[in-house]
Amino acid sequence: MSLYQMLSPYLFKLDSERAHNLAEWALKHIVPLPLVQDFVVSQHCVFDERLNVEVAGIRFYNPVGLAAGFDKNATMVRGLSALGFGFLELGTVTQAPQIGNAKPRLFRYEEEKSLQNAMGFNNQGSLEIAKRLKNLYPYSIPLGINVGKNKNIMQSDSLKNYENVLLDCLEVGDYFVFNLSSPNTPKLRDLQNVTFVQELFKMARTRTQKPLFLKISPDMDKDEMLKVVEMSIKSGASGIIATNTTIDYSVVQNPKESGGVSGEALREKSKAVLKILSEAFFGKTTLISVGGISNALEA
Ligand SMILES: Cc1cc2nc3c(=O)[nH]c(=O)nc-3n(C[C@H](O)[C@H](O)[C@H](O)COP(=O)(O)O)c2cc1C
Repeated sequence: MSLYQMLSPYLFKLDSERAHNLAEWALKHIVPLPLVQDFVVSQHCVFDERLNVEVAGIRFYNPVGLAAGFDKNATMVRGLSALGFGFLELGTVTQAPQIGNAKPRLFRYEEEKSLQNAMGFNNQGSLEIAKRLKNLYPYSIPLGINVGKNKNIMQSDSLKNYENVLLDCLEVGDYFVFNLSSPNTPKLRDLQNVTFVQELFKMARTRTQKPLFLKISPDMDKDEMLKVVEMSIKSGASGIIATNTTIDYSVVQNPKESGGVSGEALREKSKAVLKILSEAFFGKTTLISVGGISNALEA
């Protein structure tokens, strides 16, 4: 029985964000203890050459990683890697610290095995997070940094804001992801346009040769998405991460008013985007799938 199967009935009795905070505490303080870590690794990590992959010049011992948003402040790296992830995507990191949106902002749909969140990039800011990662980096598995924009930054200053986070974290990440697709920062998704992605990746390529990805929304118009992805690749992106959460609330029975839906309810939408992108870009770029992947078969 996995830790998740053992603990989820108890965690599910708590409010979702409290359950998350409790899990964070355990992954930060308990799982990294030497004997506990050995035990957790023996139960969760699978070492098999058939799972090794190399993507964008980075070697992964297995291809299933943790998506952004769970470890926003890079406080759980040791604990999470003991759970068997092949890589961790940390953040979203913004330049200035943010407290995020008012609570409650994380909702569980137990029957639908899904969540809806309106967190709003709560994080400690790029300098603090980079300082923490300096003590760990380089790490035994690849670490990605998901880069976002502060809520109070004007649209016209977005490029500089992304650049500042990238510069602060450049030495503590193996790859970087530009997040233009969270539904919880006003107008962020408007940046998913050809002009901005061109500027963004051109700017980033003057700063680093490390892999750079674009994380996209599952709610874009198909033609616009293809144009944005094509321009991103032309301008220096190493690949696309598809997808972030959806604001198509038809995928759950009793949605809340704001936030993005993730988990099994997102799966078909995310897969549909992967299919469209695969048809257009397979062999031309790297596609990383996220959304409702909850077992090995699905992965
Ligand atoms: C509570 C929560 C917070 C999230 N925060 C972020 C975030 O900060 N940045 C980001 O790019 N995606 C964020 N996501 C989206 C996930 O990275 C992922 O794209 C989405 O949840 C779909 O994957 P899943 O169905 O496996 O959860 C968040 C998701 C959840 C549930």
